[in-house]
Amino acid sequence: MKLFLFLTALIVAGATGVESCTPADRQALLDFKAALNEPYLGIFKSWSGNDCCSSWYGISCDSAGRVADINLRGESEDPIFERAGRSGYMTGKISPSICKLDSLTTLIIADWKGISGEIPPCISSLSKLRILDLVGNKITGVIPADIGKLQRLTVLNVADNSISDGIPASVVNLASLMHLDLRNNQITGGIPQDFGKLTMLSRAMLGRNQLTGTIPSSIAGLYRLADLDLSVNQISGSIPAELGSMPVLSTLNLDSNRLSGSIPASLLSNTGLNILNLSRNSLEGKLPDVFGSKTYFIGLDLSYNNLKGQIPKSLSSAAYIGHLDLSHNHLCGSIPTGWPFDHLEVSSFSFNDCVW
Ligand SMILES: *[C@@H]1O[C@H](CO)[C@@H](O)[C@H](O)[C@H]1NC(C)=O
Repeated sequence: MKLFLFLTALIVAGATGVESCTPADRQALLDFKAALNEPYLGIFKSWSGNDCCSSWYGISCDSAGRVADINLRGESEDPIFERAGRSGYMTGKISPSICKLDSLTTLIIADWKGISGEIPPCISSLSKLRILDLVGNKITGVIPADIGKLQRLTVLNVADNSISDGIPASVVNLASLMHLDLRNNQITGGIPQDFGKLTMLSRAMLGRNQLTGTIPSSIAGLYRLADLDLSVNQISGSIPAELGSMPVLSTLNLDSNRLSGSIPASLLSNTGLNILNLSRNSLEGKLPDVFGSKTYFIGLDLSYNNLKGQIPKSLSSAAYIGHLDLSHNHLCGSIPTGWPFDHLEVSSFSFNDCVW
């Protein structure tokens, strides 16, 4: 009878969706916690008792009672931060014990500023992982070579860390990837030539690294790509003209690289492109005279190059140009006047050969 009641209770608990926590998941979380030190907020104080699914800060489980999300953000509006009157700070390392949480879909350990050590290589075995966000820590080491195994990964964000070595070739196999953010690390080597395989990609943020090589023209095939940031690297070669025909590209930042050759006319005539920064490269030749009544640039910065010839006459027909910088080139000619150029400053044209 007692056993019967116990079993009934278990079934009812299951049927009403009462979450529990498997002892193995609980232990993996405790091992993860043990490798970290969070001295100011006490976010791990709630990590006690058996039911890691119901009241552990930042943890949630799936309907099977398995840990599905770890969501720990050091910049947050959660009351725990407001009470403490400060943002988060955490030291320690990300323990490989998280790889035992094989139902994990979300792993966010973001903006804790002090977490060091490397990304556990075993992370690539978490086959259900959709979001991997480790932005804003002090993580070193490499992006795991077999990261491409994560077929469901939609967000890979390891920006603002100290990750080195190259972009692993397998990255292009991340068939679900929408957001790739590797900004502000020490990543070297080239952008994989077959980067264009990432057909779901809408944001590719690779700025502020030490990337070399050329811009693969396969990128132009990324028909969902809206934002491409390769700024502040050591990328050389010319700008593939195909980038100018990308259907939804609206922000292109290639500034502070070693790009040479001329500016493809297709880039300046692409009316969907609203922010274009090609500043501080070695671009040369004439500025294509291809602006028109649908030209709408929030920001157009072509400063610090070797552009020659006239300031294109067609610039005066632009619908809008918010911020224009053509300074530090070898341009000649008159600065467009009247609306929409009334707000442009003379400094936008300074340090050229013969601008008036
Ligand atoms: C373009 O890039 C340069 C150099 O990286 C930077 O200084 C400048 O502010 C950027 N321009 C705009 C309009 O954001």
